[in-house]
Order: sequence, then C-alpha cells, then structure tokens
Amino acid sequence: MPDALRDDVYRRPLTTALERPGLGPGWRCADVGAGGGDVSVALAELVGHEGRVYAVDSDPRARDEAAVVAAAFSQVICITQAGEDLLLPEPVDLAFCRFLLMHVLDPAVVLDRMRRATRPGGWVVAQEPITSAGRVAGRPLSMPSARHADVGALLPALARAAELDVVDAWAEAPAGAGPGPVAEYLESLTDVSPGDDPVVLPPLVTVVGRVPS
Ligand SMILES: C[S@@+](CC[C@H](N)C(=O)[O-])C[C@H]1O[C@@H](n2cnc3c(N)ncnc32)[C@H](O)[C@@H]1O
Repeated sequence: MPDALRDDVYRRPLTTALERPGLGPGWRCADVGAGGGDVSVALAELVGHEGRVYAVDSDPRARDEAAVVAAAFSQVICITQAGEDLLLPEPVDLAFCRFLLMHVLDPAVVLDRMRRATRPGGWVVAQEPITSAGRVAGRPLSMPSARHADVGALLPALARAAELDVVDAWAEAPAGAGPGPVAEYLESLTDVSPGDDPVVLPPLVTVVGRVPS
C-alpha cells in the first residue's frame, strides 16, 4: 500500500490527533507499527532535533524503509520490535499507532505495552479503522486480510481497559465520487476502480488517552 497516498487522504485526522495532546519541540515519541515511516517523519518535524521518535515495527523491511524516509531526521531511531514486546530505552511522552491494532493478534496486549512505555501523565494516541463502515456505491467494504478490520469500533473501550483516561475520541472518514485521491486510495486497497461510484473510506477512530499520573 502506498503510504504517501494514505497520508494524503487521512492527513486531517492525523494532524488533529497530533495537535490534541499539544505535541511540540523536545517530546519523546514512539510510532508503533511505523511501516514506511511517514507518521514518524510527521512526529519528527513536530518534536524537532531536541526530541526523539522511536519508529518501531516488527518487520525489519519496514525499519529499512523508515530509515530511508527519515534519513534527514537524526531524532528518528528505527527499531525492529513487536508491539507486544515494546521496550524502549526511555519512557516516552507520546506512544502513537495507526492502522496497527487491526493487524496484531491481541490489540489489548499492544495497547497495554504502549501505556507501560509512556511516562505517567503522558499520552497514548491510537487511530484505527472501522472497515465495514466504509461504503462503495452504498455497499460495505471488507478487508479479509486484517485480523480485526473493525477494531476502531472498540477503541475507546480498549483504551479504558488498558487503564488510560480517555480525553477525547472521534471518527472521521474521507469521502468522494469520481476521480481523485479517495478513488485512487480505494483502488490501491482493492485493485478495483470505483469509477464514478460514491465512496466513503473506512472511518478512522481516534482515541486520545492519558496515562494516569
Ligand atoms: C498498515 S501498516 C501501517 C503503517 C503506519 N502506521 C501508517 O499508518 O502509515 C501496519 C504496520 O504494522 C506492522 N506490524 C504488524 N504487526 C505488528 C506488531 N505485532 N508489532 C509491530 N508492528 C507490527 C507491519 O509490519 C506494518 O508495517
């Protein structure tokens, strides 16, 4: 999947999610399930050279990709590690994940590790889809390759179960009809062009959680 395209259509929820905790210079962050590193770069731009971003992914190929994308940002440290085993050199101010929990064996285990990796009073922010709430020509989308394609619908409850204070939570879905980034994104996911059919991409649920002090 082309990460740049996903960043294009889901850029707005990402921006809002990073603004909500007040992320800024000097913060230490983890991007868990970092993939190609586009979110890690967005984090690196906000935390600056005084900050730190751990780009964590279980797939070593992702580390290589992220290292290339983040080559200009010495504050990004790429690590090959499963979210289930998350163990960082220092507590972070923000642990973030996007399109990760839908793929892991047990989302609750990974959220718990993200909370433990975050300092008291720090933030855990997760963005996950409700795939079946997406629509093409009015019909629901599906993603059989994902273990928990609709995990977004459970995200606020999962965050509470992980002992996070849920400060904010919302859902957002890009939509369109005809040529444009929404149709291109859908085609990249399904290999089928929607033509002029109306498309609502899977809503992304964002949960902004805080680790109790
Ligand atoms: C769909 S990509 C999302 C990439 C990125 N977060 C984004 O939003 O563009 C999912 C990534 O999660 C990684 N992943 C899957 N299971 C994982 C696990 N248990 N621990 C850490 N990373 C995992 C995959 O290797 C892949 O790079």
